[in-house]
Amino acid sequence: MIITVTLNAAIDKSLSVPNFRLGRRHRTVEQRTMAGGKGVNIARTLKALGQPVIATGFAGGATGTHIVEQLTEESILNDFVRIREESRTNTSVLDPTTGEQTEINERGPAVSEREVELFRDKLLYLARGAAIVVFAGSLPRGVEPDLYAGLIHDLERLDVTTVIDTDGEPLRQAVRAEPDVVSPNVLEAEELVGHEFSGEDERAQVVREIVALGPHEAIMTLPDGCIAQVLVDGHLRSKRARIEPREPIARRGSGDAFLAGYVAARYEGRQPDHCLRLGVACGAESTGRLEAGLIDPREARRLMGDVELSSTEVAAEVG
Ligand SMILES: Nc1ncnc2c1ncn2[C@@H]1O[C@H](COP(=O)(O)OP(=O)(O)OP(=O)(O)O)[C@@H](O)[C@H]1O
Ligand SMILES: [Mg+2]
Repeated sequence: MIITVTLNAAIDKSLSVPNFRLGRRHRTVEQRTMAGGKGVNIARTLKALGQPVIATGFAGGATGTHIVEQLTEESILNDFVRIREESRTNTSVLDPTTGEQTEINERGPAVSEREVELFRDKLLYLARGAAIVVFAGSLPRGVEPDLYAGLIHDLERLDVTTVIDTDGEPLRQAVRAEPDVVSPNVLEAEELVGHEFSGEDERAQVVREIVALGPHEAIMTLPDGCIAQVLVDGHLRSKRARIEPREPIARRGSGDAFLAGYVAARYEGRQPDHCLRLGVACGAESTGRLEAGLIDPREARRLMGDVELSSTEVAAEVG
């Protein structure tokens, strides 16, 4: 079983509004709502890829009930801790005449110490039957930035692979807790190492710097694939995966699809090259869809053939 953790789960509301203009009243021509938040999107992609997954996290109020109902309707197994405050709704307005997308994300609920403790207990219970736990997205208000780090430490005793995709201070603290895999995009990586970078050599160097901060493996996603430091027979190796970038319909959520593809292959016990290939293929496939996390698994597996993989055989000097 794979567990995805979404501490800031949401209802994502997408509105299609032709000729959208600020300060005017509009009518939507199309509208849809979906359960969202990074971990939820990853769970949706994992399910599309045929992997067993349970989505957990916090859900509160009527919106929280809606999140759980939507997941259940999609047959995505879920087990959320109910919280007192209301989960958030994120609204995105797409103007089909220009293709422009405007997003308004609510601040989201604050979570109490007691609710965090309930979650910790639930996660440790669920993780007993899990091979991989994926933490994805921002932390809710009211919790300490070391929450992910603490949960990663808690899971150390169990034989479970921990994967984290977040940003800022929670990411900084989480990498020090030595998770198995960390997967930032370029901006998150720059923030983490504290400097900007450009060019292939510097990028590869930054991924090594990230591994030196604590995680066993690091994968930095790029619009044309990823650069990774992965363990091959116990040795760190540099890998570069490339795919021809496409004209995206929606870029949001491609990192989530990447991580789901990577985790799905890893869960199947595949070699690192195969895992990176499926990740990049799923990321690319997802850019053709508006709905976060919905991919065509057959198309994604077909795209794996378009992913070019190269490795640098020099072992990194880290640790
Ligand atoms: N235009 C594109 N064409 C093809 N593949 C893409 C494109 N954009 C992104 N991808 C794929 O998706 C993966 C994730 O991309 P990116 O680094 O942009 O994620 P991200 O910024 O974390 O996204 P988010 O967090 O919004 O889901 C990359 O590994 C890449 O292979
Ligand atoms: Mg991302």
